[in-house]
Amino acid sequence: MSDRIHTLSGYFYEYQKSVTEPESFWARIADSFHWKKRWDKVLKWDFEGPNVKWFVNGKLNITENIFEKNLFAFGDRTAIIWEPSEPGEDVRTISYKELYHQVCQFSNALKSKGIQKGDRVIIYMPMIPEAAIAMLACARIGAIHSVVFAGFSANALTDRIIDSGAKAILTSDGNYRGNKKIGIKAIVDEALEKADVETVIVCQRTGQDVTMKAGRDHWWHEVIVGEKDSNVAKEMDSEDPLFILYTSGSTGKPKGVVHSTAGYMVYTKYTFENVFQYSPGDVYWCTADIGWITGHSYIVYGPLLSGATTLMFEGVPTYPDPGRFWAVIEKHKVNQFYTAPTAIRALQAYGTDPIAPYNLDSLKVLGSVGEPINEEAWRWYYNHIGQSRCPIVDTWWQTETGGILVSPIAGITPTKPAFATLPLPGIQLAIVDPEGNELTGNSVEGNLCIKYPWPSMIRTLWGDHGRCKETYFSTYKGMYFTGDGVKRDHDGYYRILGRVDDVINVSGHRMGTAEVENAINEHPLVIESAVVGYPHEVKGQGIYAFVICDMSHRTEENLINEIKETVSKIIGPIAKPDKIQIVSGLPKTRSGKIMRRILRKVAEGSTDNMGDTSTLLDPEVVTKIIEGRK
Ligand code: WT7
Repeated sequence: MSDRIHTLSGYFYEYQKSVTEPESFWARIADSFHWKKRWDKVLKWDFEGPNVKWFVNGKLNITENIFEKNLFAFGDRTAIIWEPSEPGEDVRTISYKELYHQVCQFSNALKSKGIQKGDRVIIYMPMIPEAAIAMLACARIGAIHSVVFAGFSANALTDRIIDSGAKAILTSDGNYRGNKKIGIKAIVDEALEKADVETVIVCQRTGQDVTMKAGRDHWWHEVIVGEKDSNVAKEMDSEDPLFILYTSGSTGKPKGVVHSTAGYMVYTKYTFENVFQYSPGDVYWCTADIGWITGHSYIVYGPLLSGATTLMFEGVPTYPDPGRFWAVIEKHKVNQFYTAPTAIRALQAYGTDPIAPYNLDSLKVLGSVGEPINEEAWRWYYNHIGQSRCPIVDTWWQTETGGILVSPIAGITPTKPAFATLPLPGIQLAIVDPEGNELTGNSVEGNLCIKYPWPSMIRTLWGDHGRCKETYFSTYKGMYFTGDGVKRDHDGYYRILGRVDDVINVSGHRMGTAEVENAINEHPLVIESAVVGYPHEVKGQGIYAFVICDMSHRTEENLINEIKETVSKIIGPIAKPDKIQIVSGLPKTRSGKIMRRILRKVAEGSTDNMGDTSTLLDPEVVTKIIEGRK
């Protein structure tokens, strides 16, 4: 861990170096990895294409940097601690050596099923070690994995199977959610009524009944029989795609964010070690799901590349009771704990009684990710979980950025509640006004852009490079646009203010308003809808839908419930609107554009000042909507 920052002046020194000599800065860090062939040039780029290549012509395999590079040094060290949903069930601990053999064996099984370099493999699994094994096995043979969060519906899964052109799906029989069993394989079956893959491999978890289609479906425990538990990792080019991860944008169709191999590897390891100040032997726990980028970069790749012990938790924060997180921290003596503001706020609502029985002295660092953390939640987390002695790292980043870009370095960067503080080395931020002029100096507010490439940045959107250019590189010329608003205060500290586009952040999950509208519009009695976010105490933002319906067939209550179910079916329960208001019309401009600004005000309940309404086609509509708000 020689690239470790130890002091604040060390941080400023490294940051400066990363800006003045970015190529030699990243070359130094990349040199500590195992390359089958070293790169010819560190970076080639333009943001016009965009066309970004890191470690050009380097050859490597990311799993060799997790296993072969380290097995002699610490093969017996624990790689994964798995905590099951049911507190009484046995914990699984898997050493680096054991993980290596399981990854090799499963990757050999994938090869036997005809899966090759470049093929897309969907992973639709619960939080069990096999999910991480599945990802690493794909990486081992060069198949491109695309993990789909197991809370997404069959419909959403179908879309991702088709868009990625997946050859195989790796899944499980079922999933535990509290004391419920959810059929995961059944959802895959439903998804495959409208899409096609050659192979489905099913890991047994709940033991519930499943239907297996002969020739297509196989049991995980059967396909590994007779497969060798070692192999040679496939040689990959630095820029070969490692994975696709779908995320929401401002149009209805999810975007397949593509990450490549070498840059992602270098950046996730570097940021993991520095941000969390991880030391060998520490137990690190990130509560995210592997279906999101946080799970990819900071449960699986970053920690395992660092030889860390990473805890994987199958359950939910409130099962069997709201003390579960704290019980797990005590049980496994967790040193670094990384979670989302929405979880903190949800647990805060239970007060401090659920914390009292547990010893949290092992904690050294707390992390926050996914949405702005409000000051109150920050203080509660700091005082009651961190016992006023653990630094909080408020980490700002995105699916597209691959790794953390703005964050304190634990214990080194002085923190301020609700501030992500300063950019990590290599990250050149710009705050711009609506015309794209960069706002320099402190005490400014605007849209957050990035001026220079970093190794783990998005390379393209799967199958649609034009949309990648359009979404991220066209709003402001020569810059990557994040979609977030930001403030730089008098100290030069960054505070993320939230999305400035039609994306809302519900419990740290990113939702496109257009995506939710499309789902609502699937209900046969819906004529038109408009969705906005509004402040929600626990979720950060809630989903508020204004819907015009044919009211002649149902009561309002029935209709509202049916619409919620429709959304749940089309996207998944996470996208269910919190509030639905049936309206007779939507506020539109003369050119037919919905004035969301007005709807946001109504949803927030701040209707005394509606701002400029002079462009409205029919102001009467707004009066009716305000009256109809309950
Ligand atoms: C959006 C990205 C990063 C992994 C999880 C979410 C918001 C993320 C923070 C933070 C304020 C944050 C932004 C960003 N966000 N982290 N620390 N403070 N906002 O990844 O689903 O790609 O969403 O989440 O709005 O653009 P994602």
